[in-house]
Amino acid sequence: MIQPAHHQNLMKIPLLDLKAQYESIREEIVKAIQRVLDSTAFAAGPFVTQFEKKFAEFCQCEHAIGVGNGTEALWLALLALEVGSDDEVITVPNTFIATAEAISFCGAKPVFVDVAPETYTMNPVLLEAAITPQTKAIIPVHLFGQMADMDPIMEIAKSRRLYVIEDACQAHGAEYKGRRAGSIGNAGCFSFYPGKNLGAYGEAGAVVTNNSELATKIRMLLDHGQSKKYLHELIGWNARMDGLQGAILETKLKHLPAWNEARWRHAQMYNQLLCDVKNIVLPKEAAYAKHIYHIYAIYVENRDTLMNALAEEGIQCGIHYPVPIHLQPAYAFLGLGKGSFPVAEQIAKELLSLPMYPELTNEQIAYVALMIRRFVVP
Ligand SMILES: Cc1ncc(COP(=O)(O)O)c(C=O)c1O
Repeated sequence: MIQPAHHQNLMKIPLLDLKAQYESIREEIVKAIQRVLDSTAFAAGPFVTQFEKKFAEFCQCEHAIGVGNGTEALWLALLALEVGSDDEVITVPNTFIATAEAISFCGAKPVFVDVAPETYTMNPVLLEAAITPQTKAIIPVHLFGQMADMDPIMEIAKSRRLYVIEDACQAHGAEYKGRRAGSIGNAGCFSFYPGKNLGAYGEAGAVVTNNSELATKIRMLLDHGQSKKYLHELIGWNARMDGLQGAILETKLKHLPAWNEARWRHAQMYNQLLCDVKNIVLPKEAAYAKHIYHIYAIYVENRDTLMNALAEEGIQCGIHYPVPIHLQPAYAFLGLGKGSFPVAEQIAKELLSLPMYPELTNEQIAYVALMIRRFVVP
């Protein structure tokens, strides 16, 4: 079949490219995997412990506890803080469903507050009004690699005696006034899902904290409530991290600062090439933030039309997230209809995530920007 002229040189740009990254560190990874195979330390064990030490340091925290995935990290942190069936936990509606699921799986009720229109993170101005006598904890989500405005959130939490658990699943190395994601609240929860800035080769997650008692309790809960072998002090679960993931993550952690830096540079290049396009709003970096651009999302009317047009040109974009949690069927029982959280609902319709990964080339970024300029009327 004869293709139209411009399709003959179609550049294919995925939303993220895990293969490009793997190829850049293949030898190190193969050696790390070989070490685990040789030692047969497959479930938890020394490779996980070594990664935990390095990751705690990276997060400016005393403890890091490796678990099976980010959802378990959130769930275990809440369980360890004794969040249960009479409690409410406040979070935001524009996050991955896991944030709310973790609350639900403790038996507690998720309560939402809308996000700030500039950063898409929890709006502290709206927080106080969502607090009730049942509120036990707050989970701000550091969305897309930018931390929520933690000072006012911590101040309110302190005055109302509430726990704060940072959902840092998209924020490995992000900073708030020089403090790393996960180090400000009672605990911080990370996902190492393969597409994250620090991604495992399978499923993994971690909780970080400066509270030794909390760390000990989470360690027990993730290993069947054991304080020592076959002594079960609590009813726990199996949420251990794999040895292979520990070794892979430790290897990849060494590269994370450079990868985050590369993502930031790519964001600046997108900004430069798109700043004069009137009908799109570029992501904003708050004055307090070091943004690590897990996702680079532009705000654009007719988002779906642009997304389809870019797909035709070989550019794969994403939507994070198309339906806010309060409008998901699973949470219909909360009775929160359309219009409950206007900012979250608006951005669910208009945000478009552009290709973003460290190995993205300047040529690829220029091509994406050029195609956006072609389809968005300036
Ligand atoms: C904000 C947020 N919270 C929680 C999670 C859950 O992490 P996981 O997929 O590792 O369970 C993710 C990632 O998927 C996330 O992006």
